[in-house]
Amino acid sequence: MKILVLNGPNLNFLGIRERGVYGSRDYESLTEMLKKGAAERDVQLELFQSNSEGGIIDRLQQAYFDRVDGIIINPGAYTHYSYAIRDALASIVCPVIEVHISNVHKREEFRHTSVTAPVCTGQIVGLGLEGYLLAMDALLGMAAQEEVQ
Ligand code: DQA
Repeated sequence: MKILVLNGPNLNFLGIRERGVYGSRDYESLTEMLKKGAAERDVQLELFQSNSEGGIIDRLQQAYFDRVDGIIINPGAYTHYSYAIRDALASIVCPVIEVHISNVHKREEFRHTSVTAPVCTGQIVGLGLEGYLLAMDALLGMAAQEEVQ
């Protein structure tokens, strides 16, 4: 099972940015946690982070050609307004889980809208960095379900 974890703008600044909101663990500890989680679950993991919209879209299109089995995406602030990322996600055939570290619904009003979530399979919000592992388990569960059908 091949899973791509894609993080958008400013997520490389975890541990530095708004620690009261996102916690003190940095991007590297997120990637270490994901690598360990993937190894334990026998998942082939691809990690990508970009601060640019085009970089995210190019990586999503690459995932199509790479035939990844599932995608976990945190589009950062692009969540709230990027129709271009939404269109890229809409053309993806594998399951996609959108993750937000913080509970966006408890925050500023502009964060309450996700233009990307309607074209994703599901969304995990406000459960911290562990949300990414929960998303990984959800993708594994879906793949196992596919196999029995
Ligand atoms: C975020 C929430 C977004 O509103 C914000 O712009 C981010 C991070 C989260 O993970 O909670 O960059 O996606």
